[in-house]
Amino acid sequence: MLEPRIVDRESFTVIGVGATGQLGEFNYGEIWEKQYMPMDALLKSYSIDGGCYGLTFSEGDHLVYLAGVAVAKLPVLPAGTREFVIPAAKYAVFECLMSTMTATVQEVYGQWFYKSEFELDNRAVGFEYYLPYNGVGEMQMEIYVPVKPKESPPSEQGGSSMKVFEAIANRRSIRNFKPDLVSEEALRKILQAGLLAPSGKNNQPWKFYVVQGEKRAEMIAQMRAGIVRNESQGNDTGSAKYTIRVMEQAPVTVFVYDRFGSPPWMPQSIDQNFFDVVNLQSIGAAIQNMLLTAEELGLGSLWICDVFSAYEELSTWLGENSALIAAISFGVPDEHPVARKRKDFDDLVHWV
Ligand SMILES: Cc1cc2nc3c(=O)[nH]c(=O)nc-3n(C[C@H](O)[C@H](O)[C@H](O)COP(=O)(O)O)c2cc1C
Repeated sequence: MLEPRIVDRESFTVIGVGATGQLGEFNYGEIWEKQYMPMDALLKSYSIDGGCYGLTFSEGDHLVYLAGVAVAKLPVLPAGTREFVIPAAKYAVFECLMSTMTATVQEVYGQWFYKSEFELDNRAVGFEYYLPYNGVGEMQMEIYVPVKPKESPPSEQGGSSMKVFEAIANRRSIRNFKPDLVSEEALRKILQAGLLAPSGKNNQPWKFYVVQGEKRAEMIAQMRAGIVRNESQGNDTGSAKYTIRVMEQAPVTVFVYDRFGSPPWMPQSIDQNFFDVVNLQSIGAAIQNMLLTAEELGLGSLWICDVFSAYEELSTWLGENSALIAAISFGVPDEHPVARKRKDFDDLVHWV
């Protein structure tokens, strides 16, 4: 189990060089090497602690990755740099090496949170801190994950501020989202929840494609093209025209594929049909895990199968040949729908 230090940090300013893009698009090595390094000496001359900071924040409908140094407030920014004020927050600080960073992040979101007495503070900003390098061995770093105490103390199995049943009962399909972006930390936690789902023979048949920012326009264009094609073929596109409006608003849409499946028009054996049924159950569990985690984080979601109206277009665009199962849109809810009626317990539950 990781043992981070818990620290309260005052607000501070980072200046540096920034790259814009979406989560998954940044080439961090290149940003540090090609953009930051030429400015290193200049930036370090303003540094208050001699180390370097890497952080991601949202700006409009894209993300900015800033590679820089912590400074006292400067009256004028050095040319070619930009600044970001990191708000005061409580952090769990995980020490690691550059080479163990990915594994550490995975352990934080996959295991540590569930056992700890903290949960992610979705409103604060996380960052990496690279300690001043003395030229010996590998560079040491610290991952600052913003946290807040869980409202209820952890149980032996690992507690949470929101009980599972509470999340199940409170979750609603959200079809109106605010323009606010979903933080990187929240998105990683949601995806990690999907990866932690049970699966037949632990096959983990899922594969996720995360669409954000400018890529959303391309996604919507594929949806539109699919609807037009289906209509020209005389097929009913049902609610797809309404769902596309939700996908247009949501800052993030995740496409879920069954790695072991094929598109539904492909002929296949009975054995493969059974295998598909097992994998579909596993993928349903992964999707529900993600929906409930979004609920826990105060985010809304919509489980979408209307993407089938643009099956071929979306799969060609994503370069994926396996089976499209669903998409899920996530974002900050801009509505509080009342619960949709469920059928009577006694009509559906039979005690044998
Ligand atoms: C497999 C599946 C596919 C769905 N596809 C869509 C969809 O394409 N568009 C949409 O607006 N809602 C879709 N939904 C949401 C359902 O309409 C919604 O879950 C249901 O009406 C119950 O409402 P609730 O989720 O708020 O409890 C889907 C839900 C599931 C589980």
